Amino acid sequence: MTDDTCLDFGRWCQAHLQAVEVALSRWVSADANDGADHDAPAALIEAMRYAVLDGGKRLRPLLVMAACEAVSPTEPTNHGGPHQAALRAACAVELIHAYSLVHDDMPCMDNDVLRRGKPTVHVKFGEASALLAGDALQALAFELLTPERGVDPVIQATLCRLLARAAGSGGMAGGQAIDLASVGVSLTERQLREMHQLKTGALLKASVMMGAACGASTASARQALSDYGAAVGLAFQVVDDILDVTADSATLGKTAGKDACQDKPTYVSVLGLEPSRQYARNLHAQALAALRSSGLPDTRALQALADMVIERTC
Ligand code: IPE
Ligand code: IPE
Ligand code: MG
Ligand code: MG
Ligand code: MG
Repeated sequence: MTDDTCLDFGRWCQAHLQAVEVALSRWVSADANDGADHDAPAALIEAMRYAVLDGGKRLRPLLVMAACEAVSPTEPTNHGGPHQAALRAACAVELIHAYSLVHDDMPCMDNDVLRRGKPTVHVKFGEASALLAGDALQALAFELLTPERGVDPVIQATLCRLLARAAGSGGMAGGQAIDLASVGVSLTERQLREMHQLKTGALLKASVMMGAACGASTASARQALSDYGAAVGLAFQVVDDILDVTADSATLGKTAGKDACQDKPTYVSVLGLEPSRQYARNLHAQALAALRSSGLPDTRALQALADMVIERTC
């Protein structure tokens, strides 16, 4: 980093969180169906909005916006150009994430009743509605990435490819399949790392790379951002495993102690609590080193987001 002036990260977050919240509320709505041949069923839209709005740390959208700004420091940050594409990308990643949570909580997966401090979607709306809300959120993510105008078609295609890869069998869905097949199984550290890289790391890394794809960057800067995203993505799930053991349900907004209860291999079960904390700190250091090697003039928001990932308490 060459810019040492202090970033007001609180204000930065507040501004971006608000923009993302407004955009999500606008796009996950019946009104967004304007121009479609048929109206979307109101009950399905209600379940989708319940899954997406009013909750969540929005880490993935913040990573998209921060990466976009890191590669486009001179572009206006409040409208047009890279920012417009990045806001769509930020919301698209969050929709995929929200869908993954809806399905993760279903009885056929983790069978959870609490998410983001509220009853899970299948508890509130029934299993079939939860399944369909997840399906529709996934489709909406790709619709958001492909507007008729306003975003260069080449960038649209890149964003779709990055998100599809991160969400599919070689990413989140694949990692979730390994997770379910690993119940009661003792994994090696390497197998555990590969599972976490897929089920959680892939979408977080894609968030960074999608933000970068909205602007212009050199191959070496992109490699550095990819290294940053990989380290932050893995650290995030290591911390999720730690918090499952150390935090309570009220703080987490989801059921604590689930992993041991369901006999899931986690960093805590494989390495132990303190080595897991140390591993998260090592990954944080790797993420910051990658930013320093990026040659990008201002990576302060990305740095602060890496701090947030390992310091978080929920
Ligand atoms: C929870 O993700 C699921 C994992 C991938 C570990 P988050 O902790 O980002 O959940 P929200 O979006 O803040 O609810
Ligand atoms: C889920 O991991 C990751 C997803 C792809 C949704 P977990 O099952 O550990 O997530 P939580 O703890 O329920 O949020
Ligand atoms: Mg799970
Ligand atoms: Mg779960
Ligand atoms: Mg967990």
